[in-house]
Amino acid sequence: MGPTAELAVIGGSGLYALLDGATEHRVETPYGPPSDAITIAEVGGRRVAFLPRHGRDHRYPPHLIPYRANLWALRSLGVRQVLAPCAVGGLRPDLGPGTFVVPDQLVDRTSGRVQTYYDRGAVHVPFADPYCPDGRRTLLAAATREGVAPVDGGTVVVVEGPRFSTRAESRWYASIGGTVVNMTGHPEAVLARELALCYSSIALVTDLDAGLTEGESVTQAEVFRVFGENTDRLRAILLDALAALPHERTCACGHALDGIRLPFELP
Ligand code: ADE
Repeated sequence: MGPTAELAVIGGSGLYALLDGATEHRVETPYGPPSDAITIAEVGGRRVAFLPRHGRDHRYPPHLIPYRANLWALRSLGVRQVLAPCAVGGLRPDLGPGTFVVPDQLVDRTSGRVQTYYDRGAVHVPFADPYCPDGRRTLLAAATREGVAPVDGGTVVVVEGPRFSTRAESRWYASIGGTVVNMTGHPEAVLARELALCYSSIALVTDLDAGLTEGESVTQAEVFRVFGENTDRLRAILLDALAALPHERTCACGHALDGIRLPFELP
């Protein structure tokens, strides 16, 4: 039998490795190779896979990440619950750099990204609540145990990038109810749902987005610096959450495809 895992973390900018004593696996998918080799190790008695979203050398910009291959590869290993940390810009002045947000909604402002596995047949998954409620609860509890006061809920506006937003765009995202902004939260979330995976995210605010600041606009250097200052805390939260994720899935995520005739078998 090949390598297996039940849980996974997809690491974002600045989080390119997570697991000690891991084995490394190259996984192929019908959508090509994932962003990088997948590492697998045990955490709290659970088998966990880790995949750096951008590749460990950050070779994939947000709009070119092989999202379909990434989720498919994880599912093919047996993964059913995914935690997805990411860096975000704050759209509210009270959510400054260093704040952790566990979002409950997203707005898709990407364009031109392939956002489905189902180019054939009639497969329409529910997506009203894009994040797994059990994963969210687990991340919130883990962050609290690790001494962080996480923000419970919020809307991620996912922009196409790779540029940052203009001030007008940023103000508009805030005015439509956006809490934070990033470039990778979509289509990752919907592809996870299309594979009936549990998917939840913990977003680290690395900067206040352009609409909230005067003078300098957001820079990549700032995003990476603040992320770097918080990686130890993020790592601790993720390892804590992994050990605490439910063993039995009782949420709706695993039923996203119930009653739908699929054009192919899932891995
Ligand atoms: N990722 C981190 N900060 C961001 C910002 N301000 N806009 C988009 N993506 C981000």
